[in-house]
Amino acid sequence: QELTDATYSIDRIKVITNLDTGPVYLEIEGEQEINEQLRMIDLSASDIELLHQMKPFIEKRIEWITSTFYQSVLDVPKLTEIIIKHSTVERLKMTLQEHLLDMFSGNIDQEFISKRLRIAKVHKKVGLEPKWYLSAFQNLQNAFLKVIYDEIKSEDLRLQMIKTTSKLLSLEQQLVLE
Ligand code: HEM
Repeated sequence: QELTDATYSIDRIKVITNLDTGPVYLEIEGEQEINEQLRMIDLSASDIELLHQMKPFIEKRIEWITSTFYQSVLDVPKLTEIIIKHSTVERLKMTLQEHLLDMFSGNIDQEFISKRLRIAKVHKKVGLEPKWYLSAFQNLQNAFLKVIYDEIKSEDLRLQMIKTTSKLLSLEQQLVLE
């Protein structure tokens, strides 16, 4: 697919293309600092394309990903307590499934940001400490890596997908832990 020097939109994301400087960066209107973060982690339009390619097989394995996730969470008594007090495993599993599929839709825009800020608030309210949030994230990343290895046979594509996924998870953590 050929990219030209221009400003255009993928869904609701504004994309700045500049073939001289290489990567095609995303830019969210009015979010200067986040745009700097996006550049710093090198999250570009090609990552969004890859997310779209990954979505079908993430969808196919979503039940396994979220089950593994909650199994590891339920192994920690402190976290089980939080869940029992504020929600149920079934409800959180559904919430997480929606959230993960939404991540792979690649709509990194204002709504994406405000949703993460809300998650941060909810987690703070239920008393989920950052160290547990980060541990949970690592567990999720392990699951994504396994799925990518299971589904993709090309070494080159695997590496690209791993890079894209880790950028996405990093952005997510930057927003939620702020
Ligand atoms: C709420 C995602 C880790 C417990 C939520 C919501 C999302 C979310 C999207 C809904 C926020 C809203 O209502 O707008 C995530 C992600 C995690 C994570 C992506 C890490 C990868 C955890 C962990 C726990 C947890 C480890 C363990 C206790 C909760 C609880 C709620 C919640 C109790 C509120 C549920 C409710 O009000 O029904 N989370 N979460 N989360 N999360 Fe997490």
